[in-house]
Amino acid sequence: MKEHDDPHGLAFTASSPESAEKFAQLTSSYMGFRPETGAVLKDLVQSDPDMPMAQCAKGYFAKLIGSANHSERAERISASLDTHVEKVGANAREKMHAAALSAWCTGALEKTTQIWEDILLDHPNDGMALRLAHFTHFYSGDGRQMRDSMARILPLWSEYHPDYGFLQGMYAFGLEESGEYEKAEKFGRMAVERNPRDAWSVHSVAHVLEMTERHQEGIEWVHGLENDWSTVNNFRFHLYWHKCLYHLERGEFDIVLQIYDAQIVSDIESDFYLDICNASSLLWRLEMFGVEIGDRWAKLVEVSTKHVHDTDLIFVSLHYLMALIAGGDKAAATKMIDNIRQWSRLDATQAKICADVGLALAEGLYHARNHDFEKAIRLMEPVRYAMDRIGGSKAQRDVFHMILLDATKASGDALRARGLFAERLGHKVHSSWTWKNYSGILEALGSDTLAKEAANNAAAALVQ
Ligand SMILES: [Fe+2]
Repeated sequence: MKEHDDPHGLAFTASSPESAEKFAQLTSSYMGFRPETGAVLKDLVQSDPDMPMAQCAKGYFAKLIGSANHSERAERISASLDTHVEKVGANAREKMHAAALSAWCTGALEKTTQIWEDILLDHPNDGMALRLAHFTHFYSGDGRQMRDSMARILPLWSEYHPDYGFLQGMYAFGLEESGEYEKAEKFGRMAVERNPRDAWSVHSVAHVLEMTERHQEGIEWVHGLENDWSTVNNFRFHLYWHKCLYHLERGEFDIVLQIYDAQIVSDIESDFYLDICNASSLLWRLEMFGVEIGDRWAKLVEVSTKHVHDTDLIFVSLHYLMALIAGGDKAAATKMIDNIRQWSRLDATQAKICADVGLALAEGLYHARNHDFEKAIRLMEPVRYAMDRIGGSKAQRDVFHMILLDATKASGDALRARGLFAERLGHKVHSSWTWKNYSGILEALGSDTLAKEAANNAAAALVQ
């Protein structure tokens, strides 16, 4: 086994030059959310089982699934990789990858990300390291880390590199999550122009349109490119989820339910973590909009009961928990909250986030759903400015803010509710849901003129 360069000059310890080439293909496929990514990896592992990076990627992809059983598989791969890299004389970069996988398996996410960032200082063209770092920066809850990670690398890449557009789209997403919407839109659109099948970049622009409340434009953007982005793996359901958010604010609930059934839960059995995030948060939102959703929680409960003991990402666990709580499986929900409590006592990156924010949110959701609104508020209000830490996007985390507002309104504490809804209108000036609730609160407080004005604004927001 010796070193072979991939077409972009990155050295791999492998049995043949083809393996290095295949790894480059695997990286592009992963960046593009291509459905064949798993098959590309399988082929590589079969043709070159001793290639350190093939084994490492196997471990990485198991971790990316983000649930307990796959994490165990990753641990086994990591344990043998540690000795394997020494045996085959892997290069320094590959050894760092093995160390990153090992750190990831122990839950030391900050350390894991740091190793990838260290790799990138010397090897900015290591696409696997940069895409994985983008993923864990995303779950750090600080968009600036995603933004700066890409900003460090972009000037060092040739714009002729076939994966260059993916970087522009990742940079766009980091910019968007840092509130730099104009620049984010520019980079996102440049990436999509280059490759309309680049679902992550389409998604970056979709986020800008969500945050700047251009709902109709968002629908047109996502719909207009559907033939391209819908060719990707289950990530496509997340783009349908974004489309639903625009429709929700426009009061187009039938369309939302139709997309939910036809797309969002159409492959829920495959147990991909993002599917449950889409589904749970959408159903809970629909209910907060006053929409009757029938027995749709049942299917999500079925999937979620398998994840009661997960300790990977608290953001994902909270979405499984939402399904258990809202679907009425009290026993499983209680067990899951107990698990999060135990998780919060461990020495790991996500465990600390559980201790600081996640556990309060988990318990708050439980009490909010069981109409113990005061308890829910007591738990959720103190952590609302720390919610970013659970990771995910601003648009995704918004559901937790909405639940707090909804619980506050339901608690009958109209003054507190008035404050929270007014605050939300500061950045959601075209939100029909926010105006409608605000109007109801003002009416309850006897502010009839303001209530009427707010109701008018709610109606106007429906056509935004
Ligand atoms: Fe998103």
